[in-house]
Amino acid sequence: MGTRFKGFYRLSPEERLDNVAEHSGLSGEEKAIIRGEKGFSVQTADQMVENVIGYMPIPLGVAANFKVDGRDIFVPMATEEPSVIAAASNAARLAYDTGGFTTSFSGPIMIGQVHVTQLSHPYAAMAKIYENKEAILNKCNQQDPTLISLGGGALDLEVRVVKTLSEKVLVIHLFVDTRDAMGANAVNTMNEAVAPLIEKITGGKVVLRILSNLADKRIARARAVFESPFGNDKEMLHRFISAYELAAADPYRAATHNKGIMNGVSAVVLATGNDTRAVEAGAHAYAARFGRYTTLTHYELGENRTIIGTIELPLAVGLVGGATKSHPVARTAIKMLGVKTSRELAGIIAAVGLAQNFAALRALASEGIQKGHMKLHAKNMAIQAGAKGHEIGRVVEWVVKEGRFRFDDIKRYLEKIREE
Ligand code: HMG
Repeated sequence: MGTRFKGFYRLSPEERLDNVAEHSGLSGEEKAIIRGEKGFSVQTADQMVENVIGYMPIPLGVAANFKVDGRDIFVPMATEEPSVIAAASNAARLAYDTGGFTTSFSGPIMIGQVHVTQLSHPYAAMAKIYENKEAILNKCNQQDPTLISLGGGALDLEVRVVKTLSEKVLVIHLFVDTRDAMGANAVNTMNEAVAPLIEKITGGKVVLRILSNLADKRIARARAVFESPFGNDKEMLHRFISAYELAAADPYRAATHNKGIMNGVSAVVLATGNDTRAVEAGAHAYAARFGRYTTLTHYELGENRTIIGTIELPLAVGLVGGATKSHPVARTAIKMLGVKTSRELAGIIAAVGLAQNFAALRALASEGIQKGHMKLHAKNMAIQAGAKGHEIGRVVEWVVKEGRFRFDDIKRYLEKIREE
């Protein structure tokens, strides 16, 4: 069964889950976990973080229509924002018949930083680090035999002299292949273990020993050919490209453009129990890597009224460690995706980021964002205004039909139907 599913959103939540379960081979128990009936409790939460008093549910949806590297997948997305999942499904639909998304990955390499201060001869200290590279890497690799047995570990290092406000310090970058883990713990353990050796070699004092979230050795890329949502309309195609070009040129627009990308990226990162803050920090830092903040996506006009979209961003996500294994919904979401490696997961997330951005640009270049977004946000607004049961549908219908998205208007309409 494929995931190009016209009108998937018109099904009930139960029917949607049945389809997803059939596609991904989810058991009855896993369906109950996804519905929130089983698996997660205050006790589970208490094992995950501190001072627990409860937990906060976030809606979990699936984006339909995704084909990534030739495989049809329903993509689990955890988000509180209306229209995000609809938009991702909408854009994935336009790339489905042209082959879907193709991805690549630079490898699961994380960077650990060791920061050395109080050096009388920083450049000589840098040279000494390179002279002792093997001993340093060996020390790192003694820390995690499991990672080594899986083919990972510290592979190489690089040293920079950085001029801070008060002195020239050394920053040593340890390049660690963390395989299918996000790898923060493995890298930080290595950083801390190797610090005394680095002090001995350089004669300086180590201060920071922590990974960098600018994971630019862990880059995921995705590419798709989208059918023109505007048919043959050259003016609309021009407006779409112009919207992208402004983001590429102007950091104020790029921040919003990339926020739209992260709507999709963070939703999958969260659904799979990965660290949203790490991924967000990495993405935005990468967007500014040339000294000016710019876009993570690019668009070119293709043959036969198509638009070729590409995305490139660091994606430090894993399948082992952290909440990916301890959170039952995250475990089930990973099963839903059918991924066996962090590389595959990163590729799918990049594809969702690209789809998300394409959908937003399509709307922005044509009717504007409010029509589609507010149509889906109308239900939230109706509930906030106090609508209950059958009132919700009536209010939404009126809001969309009349284009009245103001809260005071909605309240007045609700009062009116109650008086009737
Ligand atoms: P529409 O034209 O009303 O949709 O779009 P349609 O009825 O023609 O349906 C097209 C497809 O959209 C459907 O295909 C579904 O896949 C999907 P089909 O199943 O018919 O083959 N779809 C839905 N999926 C789930 N639930 C629904 C639903 N409706 C359609 N209810 C849509 C409506 C919202 C999809 C469209 O207007 C859209 O893509 N808008 C973009 C919305 C968006 O980007 N939202 C993100 C939040 S706004 C933001 O924070 C980011 C931003 O600032 C970023 C930036 O500035 O770059 C915008």
